[in-house]
Amino acid sequence: MDHPPFILLSLVLFAIPLEAAWKLKNNTYIVDIDMSKPKRGEMVILKCEASEKQLNSSVHWEKSSTRYNSNSESWVPVGYGTEHQVHVEDFPDGGNYTCRNQKKEILHYSNLLINEIIDKRGNYSKQILKEHSDRKTFFYCEAKTYSGSFTCYWQVTKQLKPQHEEMVLKQTEGGVRNVICSRPSLDEIRSVYAANCQEIGGCLHGEEIQGITLVLHAIRNKRYENATTSFFIRNIVKPDPPQNLRMSSSSKKSSVTLQWEYPESWNTQHTFFPLSFHVKVEEAGETQKRSARTHEGNLRKRSTKGVQYYNVDTTSLTLNRTNAGKAYHVQARDRYGDSSWSNWSSYKHSM
Ligand SMILES: *[C@@H]1O[C@H](CO)[C@@H](O)[C@H](O)[C@H]1NC(C)=O
Ligand SMILES: *[C@@H]1O[C@H](CO)[C@@H](O)[C@H](O)[C@H]1NC(C)=O
Ligand SMILES: *[C@@H]1O[C@H](CO)[C@@H](O)[C@H](O)[C@H]1NC(C)=O
Ligand SMILES: *[C@@H]1O[C@H](CO)[C@@H](O)[C@H](O)[C@H]1NC(C)=O
Ligand SMILES: *[C@@H]1O[C@H](CO)[C@@H](O)[C@H](O)[C@H]1NC(C)=O
Ligand SMILES: *[C@@H]1O[C@H](CO)[C@@H](O)[C@H](O)[C@H]1NC(C)=O
Ligand SMILES: *[C@@H]1O[C@H](CO)[C@@H](O)[C@H](O)[C@H]1NC(C)=O
Repeated sequence: MDHPPFILLSLVLFAIPLEAAWKLKNNTYIVDIDMSKPKRGEMVILKCEASEKQLNSSVHWEKSSTRYNSNSESWVPVGYGTEHQVHVEDFPDGGNYTCRNQKKEILHYSNLLINEIIDKRGNYSKQILKEHSDRKTFFYCEAKTYSGSFTCYWQVTKQLKPQHEEMVLKQTEGGVRNVICSRPSLDEIRSVYAANCQEIGGCLHGEEIQGITLVLHAIRNKRYENATTSFFIRNIVKPDPPQNLRMSSSSKKSSVTLQWEYPESWNTQHTFFPLSFHVKVEEAGETQKRSARTHEGNLRKRSTKGVQYYNVDTTSLTLNRTNAGKAYHVQARDRYGDSSWSNWSSYKHSM
């Protein structure tokens, strides 16, 4: 008998399981499933990774069906041997597969998660991550300065019942820049996650040549999803609002001066990283009036009539005395970059 056909056959047999699931991290594997196909499913072969000595005794496999919120974890026996085959076609096939020896000691486990690439209706929908309607991305990042630290935000769908949820934000493999992100924290009321990231060894004054690419891994129970985004820090800078906004009158009382300071979080060298400011002066109470009338277009238009805008590069603005007793708002932006305007900082003059 010739050897080649046999070798070919064994290659085919072993190639399928390797392609069917990919490793997310130790003990966690993802199976990509196109749910729109009626004849779908992937054969995944799980190996009981343990020493030969441990594998000597009879190995058996169990699958957990954990009830979140109740500590009872029930284990269902699913097979014997050092390998276990699973035909994965839907969520019930995912889960934690554990191999144990005769004494019921844990030898190894593999957690199989499902990534529903295409749903039953043929859509590329996501069930955990929610797309940001304005930005058309699943997550976005903002930096308060050029120092290399930034914060990323993403929204998730509301859970109908509490389930295990895990989020990991990290730089993609092979990224040139060295970025480390914290464990994400959840604002449960808004269903928004935030994670702080920091570039290690970045150059504050240098030109950014390579962008940063981050991947977000989202796990909810047996479901897996991911999203990626790429950016330059210079394009995600959004300063904090100017601070210590205050007003003083000149001795001659012919003018009033509005003053403020750079936000404390801004890079300390203001000569290297100058800000520009945008000042808005309006009748006190105008903002409240406007928001109360937003459904009446003609009134809203009229109420913005007395509003004045000024662009300045300094941290003060001298105004005619007639501007006393109004409401003042100042926002900041990097003077030379293409960054976003900060939120407004407001001051109401009571005279
Ligand atoms: C993953 O497993 C390998 C081999 O067992 C081990 O060397 C490595 O430290 C593990 N990594 C993590 C992050 O636990
Ligand atoms: C494996 O098990 C057999 C039968 O129980 C025993 O004879 C043998 O010594 C064991 N080998 C190892 C390496 O433990
Ligand atoms: C899977 O089960 C093993 C015990 O068999 C446990 O140690 C491990 O934490 C479980 N992993 C997950 C992700 O549930
Ligand atoms: C998903 O598919 C359904 C049926 O094919 C279609 O009506 C719906 O618009 C699709 N939704 C999206 C978000 O593409
Ligand atoms: C995101 O998920 C897809 C499909 O499961 C996978 O092919 C891809 O490698 C994942 N991306 C990253 C960066 O892990
Ligand atoms: C201040 O405003 C008043 C009234 O509009 C005007 O008469 C006066 O010339 C203005 N003064 C300055 C310094 O602009
Ligand atoms: C800016 O304003 C938005 C919307 O009001 C708010 O969600 C956000 O927290 C503010 N950011 C800062 C840095 O104050």
